[in-house]
Amino acid sequence: MAQSKTKALTDVADLTKAQAKVELKRLTLELERHDNAYYQEDAPKISDSEYDALRKRFNAIEARFPEFVTSDSPSQKIGAAPSGKFKKIRHSVPMLSLDNAFAEQDVLDFVARIRRFLKLGDDDRIDFSAEPKIDGLSMSLRYEKGELVTAATRGDGAEGEDVTANIRTLEDVPKKLKGRNVPEVCEVRGEVYMTKQAFLALNERQKATGDTIFANPRNSAAGSLRQKDPSITASRPLGFFAYAWGQMSTMPEGTQSGMIGWFERCGFKTNPLMKLCHSVEQLIAFHRKIEEQRAKLDYDIDGVVYKLDRIDWQERLGFVSRTPRWAIAHKFPAERAMTVLRDIEIQVGRTGSFTPVGKLEPVGVGGVIVQNVTLHNEDYIRGIGGHGEQLREGRDIRIGDTVVIQRAGDVIPQVVDVVLDKRPANAKPYQFPKKCPCPLHTDVVREETATGEEGARARCTGEFACPYQKIEHLKLFASRRAFDIEGLGEKQIEFFFEQQWVREPADIFTLPARNAKIKLEGHEGYGETSVRNLFSAIEERRRISLERFIYALGMRHVGETTALALARGYGSWKTFHDACLRVAQGDEEAIAEMDALDQIGDTVIASVRAYFGESHNRGIVERLTKQVTILDAEKPKSNSAVAGKTVVFTGALERMTRDEAKAMAERLGAKVSGSVSKKTDYVVAGPGAGSKLAEAKNHGVEVLTEDQWLKMIGQ
Ligand code: IVH
Repeated sequence: MAQSKTKALTDVADLTKAQAKVELKRLTLELERHDNAYYQEDAPKISDSEYDALRKRFNAIEARFPEFVTSDSPSQKIGAAPSGKFKKIRHSVPMLSLDNAFAEQDVLDFVARIRRFLKLGDDDRIDFSAEPKIDGLSMSLRYEKGELVTAATRGDGAEGEDVTANIRTLEDVPKKLKGRNVPEVCEVRGEVYMTKQAFLALNERQKATGDTIFANPRNSAAGSLRQKDPSITASRPLGFFAYAWGQMSTMPEGTQSGMIGWFERCGFKTNPLMKLCHSVEQLIAFHRKIEEQRAKLDYDIDGVVYKLDRIDWQERLGFVSRTPRWAIAHKFPAERAMTVLRDIEIQVGRTGSFTPVGKLEPVGVGGVIVQNVTLHNEDYIRGIGGHGEQLREGRDIRIGDTVVIQRAGDVIPQVVDVVLDKRPANAKPYQFPKKCPCPLHTDVVREETATGEEGARARCTGEFACPYQKIEHLKLFASRRAFDIEGLGEKQIEFFFEQQWVREPADIFTLPARNAKIKLEGHEGYGETSVRNLFSAIEERRRISLERFIYALGMRHVGETTALALARGYGSWKTFHDACLRVAQGDEEAIAEMDALDQIGDTVIASVRAYFGESHNRGIVERLTKQVTILDAEKPKSNSAVAGKTVVFTGALERMTRDEAKAMAERLGAKVSGSVSKKTDYVVAGPGAGSKLAEAKNHGVEVLTEDQWLKMIGQ
């Protein structure tokens, strides 16, 4: 022991590439262990100077072999206290994301959709504000009576982290808004970024002092913001461009471009390349021009954004799930690189499906180091599956191949081509495993995807007996968008599962009571504080919203949006659960009712049926519901006469398009359904209404004309 401690380490300058790789891996694990002891438990196991020496060595190796710097390297997280060290802030207006356009046709479709929705003629002019899409971090700055009060990161869109103290150190962020008569409450949103030049200079300084080397400007901006000590943030050159807003007690302007001008008058920087465009042709030309300038710009961008200029039109268009209908990001083509495929590993997902993952010789693409690529499924590897035709026709993928990979924005990197000239003579077609790698070694079945076009998926047949599937489900269960249990991440779930302390969701909630036996605090990585924190995080989540609960059950094809639609549709857990049990028994009425819900169709129904048809799953759900309180779905906030009512539109509408009518009804808290049943409250019928009108009469449902409807909703 004493000997190994004093054993001299090879000088960094003398390390071979292979030794460096092994050493980095060892140091990563060691640093993570000490970070955990320090941050999670406030119980460091080594002195500060010993810790600094480890870090220094790690950084020196990375500096000598920058090709090994990965985006999840400990160096990328330096000083970044684990989330939870920052207070959470709930956004008063959610921070949403943008839909993407890649081809020109996508842009044409986007504009055409807006015209249709707003019932505009081909000659009606539409103005768009076009601007670069900055590759930084979005930020929401709240001003009350003109004074900066809070700054929050985007987080999951609903809740971000309070980084006010750090943001105050940014020169581009006014602490007080300029001008008189600023609205009582203003939330200014935009992007925090680091210039390419500042990023390179920072890395040089860091290298000299043996500190963090960042993989790209975005990471360095993120790392610089997530400092516990604002003076560190202050020493990092961060910029801010204002481009959007959240809550505004009054709107100072009626257009997007007007708001940009107003931001400037308040003292913000806005992007100098922003341009008002009056046609699709001008949008496309803007995209081309910015793409030409991209390399010369001093900050990273990954596309351009088009926003409808008139704010009243933006409001009419509204949102689809998490993205506005009135804006789109027109991305630049993905960046590509060539490297060697070293191996193929099989990952077993929550529902048993296999995803082959390609292990690459690490390579830099568009500012990040890529080591893994998804290979989708067996057919894709054999070169016979579509998957959006990403892989060049006539290619199959073999271990040892030189492959061309592509990465676009946050999308998982893909293999798009194989360089046949470089294929090793002994490379053989890849043999997809016939048995699951899980300890059950079950036979693998092939299954067509729901759409039937994405090539066959292989699945483990172990179902609920397969430990891989159980672990994956538990990870989803505790994850941020589901139960969001702080301190119960993927690694902890794996550990608890291996120890057999947590085998199914309900076990998480009985863990504190069982700890007298388990004695978690005696285990590696845990101390009294971290155990107390974990248990209080678990207690905090005993009350859960219905949509999160449904999502956390992990049914196939039931993502967040679907879970929300189901929660809104049924309102309470009891109603939903009863319906699911009836659906599982093939009850026609229950199935029709589920089918009538917006966004729910055959795929989801089949999945609900399969899930609740399985007694094992019913047991899991039953044990879990004994541990938690499931809150009813939030009633629509609207006090409109139609809130909570179910409406069916039929026939032609004259004042607005069907889409707009539907969006407006939903905004007022009504449910819009596609078919008439006895649960329907109103049928709004225009000229040409047919069978639905007849059905309405059949069920005795009130029928309204479009004008009566508009009057009812106060328009
Ligand atoms: S507008 C409701 N404008 O892109 C839409 N976003 O995918 C609000 N971004 O999270 C966003 N540059 O971080 C907008 N000029 C720009 C942007 C921009 C970068 C980022 C932003 C957002 C993401 C949306």
